[in-house]
Amino acid sequence: MKNIVVAIDGFSSCGKSTMAKWLAKEVGYKYIDSGAMYRAVTLFCLRNNLIKDGVVDTEKLEKRMNEVKIEFRVNENTGKSDTYLNGECVESEIRGMEVSSNVSPVAAVPFVRHAMVDLQRSYGEGGGIVMDGRDIGTTVFPNAELKLYVVASAEVRAQRRYDELTAKGDTVSFDDILKNVQERDYIDMNRAESPLRKADDAIELDNGLLTIEEQNKWLMQIFNEKTK
Ligand code: DC
Repeated sequence: MKNIVVAIDGFSSCGKSTMAKWLAKEVGYKYIDSGAMYRAVTLFCLRNNLIKDGVVDTEKLEKRMNEVKIEFRVNENTGKSDTYLNGECVESEIRGMEVSSNVSPVAAVPFVRHAMVDLQRSYGEGGGIVMDGRDIGTTVFPNAELKLYVVASAEVRAQRRYDELTAKGDTVSFDDILKNVQERDYIDMNRAESPLRKADDAIELDNGLLTIEEQNKWLMQIFNEKTK
């Protein structure tokens, strides 16, 4: 069986990471959450006052990018991969509203993207990887053997994020989350550098149309065809 690269792109909270994690586990591939990497850079900016009112101090950040070390380590309790920033586990912090509200402008900075793309490509050497994000099938791995583009309405996605955050005990407003989802969609699709778009050879999946079981079955079928 071939070791392939699976690229899963789509809007925030459209269910792509659930799909990507499931597939990676099922077939014994590495899973990389590329959004977590942009979130970790954003946390670095917030902690070092490099972003204010949604504006990134690109001059200072560029000088300090060499201080940003991102890694993924498997958590022995959960079996999942956690994101580390300079040796510290930041998995929970990068999912909170403060990072979510500031991540799009950071992810739009060209030198941040170049650094993350280099790192993402290094993870993909040799194949056997599932990576999700916005530009995986278009920029990071344009030759990926399997590309998926996942879509779902902004309301469905905001509800998912609301459920996730309230389950963790965060007090959040649905309207704020919906606004954040819509703003991020806009920035992700309209930035100059690697905007979110469907790769010509990607398969589009509307996440609202299938049950998880149907989706997984479908995914496994395509995966098996591509790795034959
Ligand atoms: O998937 P997510 O919501 O965790 O992503 C966080 C942010 O990072 C999102 O606003 C878009 C950006 N992102 C990106 O620009 N490119 C990627 N490959 C992954 C995420």
